[in-house]
Amino acid sequence: MNGTNDGLRAAVVDRFAAVAAEPGREEKFPVGPASAKALGYDPHEIDALPATATESFCGVGHPLGLGDVRPGQTVLDLGCGAGLDSILAARRVGPAGRVVGVDLCPAMVGKARRNADTLGLPNVEFVEAGIENLPLPDASVDVVISNGVFNLCPDKPTVLAEAFRVLRPGGRLQMADILLHDDVTPEWVARLGEWSD
Ligand SMILES: C[S@@+](CC[C@H](N)C(=O)[O-])C[C@H]1O[C@@H](n2cnc3c(N)ncnc32)[C@H](O)[C@@H]1O
Repeated sequence: MNGTNDGLRAAVVDRFAAVAAEPGREEKFPVGPASAKALGYDPHEIDALPATATESFCGVGHPLGLGDVRPGQTVLDLGCGAGLDSILAARRVGPAGRVVGVDLCPAMVGKARRNADTLGLPNVEFVEAGIENLPLPDASVDVVISNGVFNLCPDKPTVLAEAFRVLRPGGRLQMADILLHDDVTPEWVARLGEWSD
C-alpha cells in the first residue's frame, strides 16, 4: 500500500470514528434507524433493537434482503461498522451458525462488540482488520455481506479476491454500495448531498 492509500485509510478511520461516537452530528450522508427503514429493513426489527445498535448504521442498502441466510451458516460482514447487519445475521444463523464482522475502525469495532454483548449474541465476533487481508481461511464462509464499504477501498480487485477466497464453493456475496457516475452535475450534488468530505 502506498503513502496516498495510507492517508486515505487514516481518513476513513477518523471519519467513521466520528460516526461511531456522535452519529447525530453526521450531515453528509444518512445515518441511523430511519435510514435503515428507508432502505428496506424490517421496521419492527429495527425498532426492537437498542438505539446504540442502530444509531451508527451508515449502510446504503439492505444486503441481507438479497438472499436468505440460514441457521447454521457462517456469514462474514465486510466493513461491519457498529454491527447492525452482523447482529441481524447472527439472529438468522442461530446458535449453530457463526458471524464474523471485520472493520478497520477501532471505534466501530468496539461499538459493535458492545452491541453484541448487550444483545447476548455469542455467535458473532468482531475483528479489527482491513478487508484487503482477511483473517479467515480459504473456503470457510457461506455468505459474505457488505454495506457501503467497497467505495471506500482503493484496491477493489484485492477486496473482491479476498471475498471470493474465503467463500465456499456455491457461497454468495450479497452487497450494497454506491457508484460514482462521471457526469455528476452541481444540481445532482445540491439535490442528493455530497456524501463525502
Ligand atoms: C459506510 S460505513 C458502513 C458500515 C456498516 N456496513 C453499516 O452498514 O452500518 C463503512 C465502514 O467500512 C469501514 N471500512 C472502510 N474501508 C475499510 C477497509 N479497507 N477495511 C475494513 N473496513 C473498512 C469503515 O471503517 C466503516 O465502518
